[in-house]
Amino acid sequence: MIDLHAHILPGIDDGAQTLAEALKMLTIAEEDGITKLVATPHLYRGKYQQLEELKIKQELEKLRKAAAQKGLKIDLLSGAEVHITHKLLTEIRRHRVELVINGSDYLFLEFPSDHVFPGVKNLMFELLSQRLTPIIAHPERNAVFLRQPRLLAELIQMGVLCQVNSGSFLGCYGERIQVGVLNLLKLGLVHFIASDCHNSATLPPRLSPAVEIAAEIIGPAAANALVVDNPQAVVENRAIPYYPEPLEPRERSRSLKFIWPVFNFFSKKKK
Ligand SMILES: [Fe+2]
Repeated sequence: MIDLHAHILPGIDDGAQTLAEALKMLTIAEEDGITKLVATPHLYRGKYQQLEELKIKQELEKLRKAAAQKGLKIDLLSGAEVHITHKLLTEIRRHRVELVINGSDYLFLEFPSDHVFPGVKNLMFELLSQRLTPIIAHPERNAVFLRQPRLLAELIQMGVLCQVNSGSFLGCYGERIQVGVLNLLKLGLVHFIASDCHNSATLPPRLSPAVEIAAEIIGPAAANALVVDNPQAVVENRAIPYYPEPLEPRERSRSLKFIWPVFNFFSKKKK
């Protein structure tokens, strides 16, 4: 299996804080059957490590050496989890190679947990027109995507892909998110399962328990594709081979439910 999303570089963000912890996490990953892991530290200007300092590259190299010394065979690749800010397009122009996954045309994007900004489709269009494929990190942890999977389906229709967290299947982020991730899977809106690991205790790099649960819903071959074939295609910069047919989400957003009667009232009044 390939874990596309991991906060494993010591001291870079809120993931592993020491080299010993990072090595412990890599041991867990190997035991789970993970052969490749992409280090994706948070990139959030002002909050986390600045790109110019090139600390990410240095820390990745240090961890590779330490893992090899420990006899670990796991392959460590570079990437980032890029928080969406108004500077995103400028940052990508300046640092594309450092931001994408393993030098590919795939880019991990992190939304805030409580909203999706109104210009999201324009931003995605802009990224896609720059030959980048945005991968939305854990949409099941965003309140809007959870409530309105239709919006997610529309972004996927544009060419965006979605990664959900293995911990979401196990209830690590609460029951609402656990139910939500299963719903996204049923709707055909999931292209990858990754760990989004932050430590060895509560959010470890373990994928197989989530794959077992996913297999009960979409079948073992499709569940396997979410952690093997699809992430392998990403790190090799190919189109993903498993692309589920999205089902039509039936929900109507709360905001539309509220706006629609008001809109009707005014439009009738005009007549
Ligand atoms: Fe993350």
